[in-house]
Amino acid sequence: MTLAPNVYDAEPIPDAARDEIERLLQSGDLFRYTAPENAPVALLEREFAALMGARFALCVSSCSAALFLSLKSLDLPRGARVLIPAFTFAAVPSAVVHADCQPVLVEVGENFRIDMADFEAKLDDSIGAILISHMRGHTSDMDAIMTLAETRGVPVIEDAAHSLGTTWHGRNIGTLGKVGCFSFQSYKLVNAGEGGVMITDDPDIIARAIIMSGAYEHNWKKHPVVQDRFGHWQNKLPLYNMRMQNLSAAVIRPQLPEVARRVRDGRSNHDHVAGRLNATPWLHVPDALPPEKRAPDSIQFNLIGFDSDDMARAFQAAAKARGVSVQVFGLSSDNARAFWNWQFIEGGAPDLPRTRAMLMRACDVRLPARLTRADLDYIADALIDAAEMVMGETPARAFGT
Ligand SMILES: Cc1ncc(COP(=O)(O)O)c(C=O)c1O
Repeated sequence: MTLAPNVYDAEPIPDAARDEIERLLQSGDLFRYTAPENAPVALLEREFAALMGARFALCVSSCSAALFLSLKSLDLPRGARVLIPAFTFAAVPSAVVHADCQPVLVEVGENFRIDMADFEAKLDDSIGAILISHMRGHTSDMDAIMTLAETRGVPVIEDAAHSLGTTWHGRNIGTLGKVGCFSFQSYKLVNAGEGGVMITDDPDIIARAIIMSGAYEHNWKKHPVVQDRFGHWQNKLPLYNMRMQNLSAAVIRPQLPEVARRVRDGRSNHDHVAGRLNATPWLHVPDALPPEKRAPDSIQFNLIGFDSDDMARAFQAAAKARGVSVQVFGLSSDNARAFWNWQFIEGGAPDLPRTRAMLMRACDVRLPARLTRADLDYIADALIDAAEMVMGETPARAFGT
């Protein structure tokens, strides 16, 4: 009997991390600013910037911290309005609120990408910045977004928490806007438990972000970049202390050479399962836009012809009975990816019928890069059989529990 694959366990951290962690434990050198130079966090910043083809990188405590510092570094006026897609994780509007700005939500269509008509309509003179969340690694039309943003002179921040390794016309996601932010939380492509990084080519943005991240007094001297800018900003900006510590960098650095393989395997896993799901009339995985090469670690698909929430719930239950957990974003009462639950937004979230309809039938299943072909087929079989069961066709396969 085949058991359902465990999709929550992470890959082991590469062995190469062990010596460095042992050295740090022996010396107690965990703070990024103790060593005069080449602390693990500083080395990671250099390596990550090189990997992405960006001029500067700043490692911080989370992607949320990176988003917050990016917004702060743009020096927006208090209360500035920031466009964000309505399909994202609650951490994104939270970062906007944390930065004393007001999130303005844009509709997202059934293909999980920003509705460009709504985006253009909302990009008026009141908008101070655009935060594009590439939710679950789905890339919206970045050509159209960047053209509109540049025409209006509005800076773009990319939330690439799930998009490490994704490219658009061959360019790394995270390098299209003014700033790109990534997550090292455990469910992302690189796992440090927690952690984040922002990248930019803009010397003033990186100087401001470095100081605000907690490079107090003269610690900015340990960032071997834009030394001429720091004097101007020192003591003029608050210190939010969102630094990364050396142990995190020691866990992350040996994973960077694994990124290309994880991207390749994640893409091939996703495309295999997508092909199987798309062969049924009941499940549909929307196509990526042509310039995008994806790096997925999960799969999203729509339920087709499931006319009621009860049918969608029955599908979830049938998949669960086969050992496969499916999240339907809009169906649980407290889902952090359903915009109507973001009650912390001043005035409440507006109603967005297109995004709401999408979230009520959009399904989410984890597909980490380490899964085998047999694991993937188990998941695809379970999803297809669950859909057929609900839609009135009898499944042929026998499953373990
Ligand atoms: C789309 C998106 N953006 C940002 C974040 C925040 O990342 P972190 O947990 O590193 O703060 C997440 C977390 O899952 C996310 O899904």
